[in-house]
Amino acid sequence: QMEKAEANPAAASTHVLIFPCPLQGHVNVMLKLAELLALSDLHVTFLNSDYIHHRLMTFSDLQTRIPATYPKFQFKTISDGLPPQHPRSGDKTIEMLNSFTLHGKTQLREILVSDDVLSENCKKPRVNCIIGDGMLGSLTADIGDELGMPVIHFRTISASCFWAYFSLPKVYESGQLPIRGEEDMDRILGDLDGMENLVRCRDLPSFCRESERDESNGILSTLIFETQQSLRARALILNTFEDLEGPVLSHIRLRFPKVYTLGPLHAHLNSRISKASITTLSKQSSTTTNTLWEVDRSCMTWLDAQPPKSVLYVSFGSIAWISRQQLLEIWHGLVNSNKRFLWVIRPDMVVGKEADGDTPVELLEGTKERGFMVGWVPQEEVLAHPAVAGFMTHSGWNSTLESIVAGVPMICWPFFADQQINSRFVSHVWKLGMDMKDVCDRKVLEKMINDLMVDKREEFTKSSDEMANLALKAVREGGSSSSKMDSLVEFIKSSAK
Ligand code: UDX
Repeated sequence: QMEKAEANPAAASTHVLIFPCPLQGHVNVMLKLAELLALSDLHVTFLNSDYIHHRLMTFSDLQTRIPATYPKFQFKTISDGLPPQHPRSGDKTIEMLNSFTLHGKTQLREILVSDDVLSENCKKPRVNCIIGDGMLGSLTADIGDELGMPVIHFRTISASCFWAYFSLPKVYESGQLPIRGEEDMDRILGDLDGMENLVRCRDLPSFCRESERDESNGILSTLIFETQQSLRARALILNTFEDLEGPVLSHIRLRFPKVYTLGPLHAHLNSRISKASITTLSKQSSTTTNTLWEVDRSCMTWLDAQPPKSVLYVSFGSIAWISRQQLLEIWHGLVNSNKRFLWVIRPDMVVGKEADGDTPVELLEGTKERGFMVGWVPQEEVLAHPAVAGFMTHSGWNSTLESIVAGVPMICWPFFADQQINSRFVSHVWKLGMDMKDVCDRKVLEKMINDLMVDKREEFTKSSDEMANLALKAVREGGSSSSKMDSLVEFIKSSAK
């Protein structure tokens, strides 16, 4: 197979296959990386599940924008092994991931060894490097070993969360874990390098929690295992930047010698697109939106009508779900704060709809006066809107980075996985907001909103502006992420075979 590739003169150039986990937060950001590599003139194949690909092509501008912008970029799809009617979301997400992992390896191998990629366009070289989602670390590492192909891992989480997952076996060995019940949640872990005296048990990735242990023991051991697999990759890519997570990165580099910090990737791509004077973005939107849901742009018209810095934007990302009771508690907090709010409520976000009918009238009234609820928004644009003053977020890593770039301070209400540790860094290390972790109380929320938007507004605005500047500096020419992008391209070219 490889000899054949060498006989083809075009094989001299490099062709990267990008393989994300089929979830919004992963696909979105790996597509940004894919575009950045295409902008560096590499051939790129983006391999997605059929299901996600179909949604992307339906709801984003990619179907027209990619071919119009990058002649060397193609999409390929594989099956996730599930029937069409499977929901693939909410509490069925894990089922989907298990099925995808089970069926993915064979199909990936087939794509790589067949003439498939080559035959589509004879001018294309074969795939000679894989950038795989580190959450599926063993899958791509195995295929790389088998086919003698270089594999680079990409993790969509923060460096801090990556390092926490990596360090957990040591913390368990030292006897500091497992967590011993609710009363143990505020104990500070002394043994996490780079995070000394910072991380409490409640700030660890949620799967470490006793309350979740029965359901998630399997998930935690999988995540620990997959994180260790990145030791087998040639390099590690993280969506972060040196000024944000430098201390933890220096610990990671002791174990992973080649770490490319390219983030915030959305800002990085925006910066390179404008530098290349690319004009294929849609007229409506100034950013690339790799969305899997239909975007409702009516929120932008509503925002245009609000005074500057007056709105709290509220969103819990693409996966998290809440109970009707939590929804009402948050809703009371928002309305009682007397601030304007824009709230994303995905159709699948609230579980237990039995109490649908009896929404208290004061909530409906308060929302009519000052609020706007919507199913899905163009988040990057919303955060950049001059009317937005704060972000109540579930602390997903993409949302956190998007808020950092926009200089918008945060109220963090993390749900699960990496979000618990992200919110700790936002509040206690970077001082970009407040952490409402494990609390759902209208009074607490009302107070936090007022602190964020009135009483402590100045201090939060100052630290958020400073961090936004550092983020933008990192992705501009000569900045740390931009330089690391150039070295990554060189590294890929030199190791591709
Ligand atoms: C999850 C994890 O929580 C995250 O930390 C991990 O890195 C990836 O998987 P998710 O829960 O979806 O992701 O959150 P987040 O990482 O914040 O990603 C959500 C994405 O959806 C963001 O890019 C955001 O801009 C986008 N979004 C959200 C919209 O475009 N519109 C919306 O209305 C809401």
